[in-house]
Amino acid sequence: MTKRNILAVLAMATLVPVTSIAAPQFFNIIDGSPLNFDDAMEEGRDTPAVKHFLDTGENLYNEDPAIMADAEDLYAGMCSGCHGHYAEGKLGPGLNDSYWTYPSNATDVGLFSTMFGGATGQMGPMWGSLTLDEMLMTMAWVRHLYTGDPKDADWLTDEQKASFTPFDSTKPGDDPS
Ligand code: HEC
Repeated sequence: MTKRNILAVLAMATLVPVTSIAAPQFFNIIDGSPLNFDDAMEEGRDTPAVKHFLDTGENLYNEDPAIMADAEDLYAGMCSGCHGHYAEGKLGPGLNDSYWTYPSNATDVGLFSTMFGGATGQMGPMWGSLTLDEMLMTMAWVRHLYTGDPKDADWLTDEQKASFTPFDSTKPGDDPS
């Protein structure tokens, strides 16, 4: 092996992750077909948060104060008309408690899949309206509106569960709008 080949092999070896966590699988919630992220909008496809999410199923935007204002705007513009200002439910079901029509929405992989691919009736797919990055932000706001027991909030890390206070629209600060 020439010195150059050895260097190339070494360079490739460093690209292989040391521990490989199984990447999550994404399916349409209604017909079970695999979601095709080639359909996603060009913009916002390869942000660090999107890459991390597609690799691990963990949403780095959950409870990240830096994106909360944008996340709230996205939810207000795209979801609140049907799901209610506080995700309490309106034309569409409530998204702020532990009850789900589709139980997989209790996980962020499930919630992302429902947003991307849609469900039935008025719940259309969002892949043409929101970038993948915006979907993750919108999800973070949906999760921020959660009123249930933090122990059941599987999308939060253990550390976040310990500090998460269920959303209370009557509390000053929880409703900045
Ligand atoms: C035009 C109205 C409309 C809009 C806009 C809309 N939804 Fe929905 N959504 C619905 C309806 C109706 C359902 C019930 C569909 C079903 O059960 O298959 C639903 C279902 C859902 C579900 C499944 C809930 C469960 O209990 O399993 C999730 C999650 C969801 N929507 C999230 C969102 C998010 C996030 C947005 C914004 C990006 C959004 N929706 C925008 C009408 C809407």
